[in-house]
Amino acid sequence: MSTTSRTATSRTAAFRSAVVRTPGGPDSIEIIDVPVAEPGPGQVRVAVAGAAVNPVDLALAAGVFHGMGLISQPEHTGLGWDFSGTVTAAGPGADLAAGSRVAGLVTGFDRDYGTYAEQLVVAADDVAVVPEGLDLVAAATVPLNGLAVDLLGAGEGRNLLVTGAAGALGAYAAVLAQERGWRVTGLARAGDEKFVRGLGAGFTTEATPGWDAVVDGAALQDQAAALVRDGGVFVGVRPNAAPPAGRGVSVHAVEVRADGARLAGLLDAAASGRLPARVHAVLPLDEAATAHREVAKGGVRGKYVLRP
Ligand SMILES: NC(=O)c1ccc[n+]([C@@H]2O[C@H](COP(=O)([O-])OP(=O)(O)OC[C@H]3O[C@@H](n4cnc5c(N)ncnc54)[C@H](OP(=O)(O)O)[C@@H]3O)[C@@H](O)[C@H]2O)c1
Repeated sequence: MSTTSRTATSRTAAFRSAVVRTPGGPDSIEIIDVPVAEPGPGQVRVAVAGAAVNPVDLALAAGVFHGMGLISQPEHTGLGWDFSGTVTAAGPGADLAAGSRVAGLVTGFDRDYGTYAEQLVVAADDVAVVPEGLDLVAAATVPLNGLAVDLLGAGEGRNLLVTGAAGALGAYAAVLAQERGWRVTGLARAGDEKFVRGLGAGFTTEATPGWDAVVDGAALQDQAAALVRDGGVFVGVRPNAAPPAGRGVSVHAVEVRADGARLAGLLDAAASGRLPARVHAVLPLDEAATAHREVAKGGVRGKYVLRP
């Protein structure tokens, strides 16, 4: 075999992925080559078109989850939770044709792969077809924050405050909770008033107390829990760091799980404009560290999306 053909073979057998070996912030993100895997029963391989940059990725690169003892990867940890792309191969029993446009979610902290990659192999049940009318970059911003917020039950006219309502999770919580009968007010920065009111929610910049429920999309934690009335409901966003309960307040924390069927409905809602799918900027995968630095500064509206 010639040198040229060996190189060509090895190129087709590997893909690029962004990982962290020893966490230390954005500078610790490395792009490495990973062997291509074939999809097994019920799985599909996806050529990734976009991977959203989320706060959880910044926390992982900073070593937060390593510090909590949640990661035991011997070599490296994969970055990225949600993705969009095109199916390139389907394993036995996976009912998605090559060429299907899909979006999906991979969950969990302790994994050597992630969506910051050129390719992914995932369960077909965990992805949903992206409707025409929603481009793949926008679709990549939907899964993590859309699938995270179905916790409150029926509102029956009760008052809900969503902190960080101009953020990805907060905006989805604001829209979906109204559909379940909550009267929603969004707490956000003054400059976000038009966006928050555009979600159909009320708007405030003042963290006043007395709410039947609070969804804490800004991760204000104790400060937000204190805004719930006695006997109300607090839904935090940090499953491993729920503020202590008191005054009869029931404390929950959103946890996200992959659910292709539910994601299909969320993608339809994004395609119709009912759910926002805001993209701040698209950067190449190689610039994952730059995206992390920019998100860390705060004030970003919409997601950075990495494109391999
Ligand atoms: N547990 C789970 O399964 C799960 C899933 C998804 C997300 N999350 C968590 O949910 C949180 C939100 O994620 P995201 O992607 O929605 O982030 P995001 O888009 O950055 O949204 C956060 C929003 O909160 C705003 N904010 C922060 N402090 C505020 C304050 N004092 N008053 C008003 N607004 C304030 C931010 O505004 P500025 O930018 O101006 O500060 C931003 O608009 C993160 O902590 C994330 O890790 C958890």
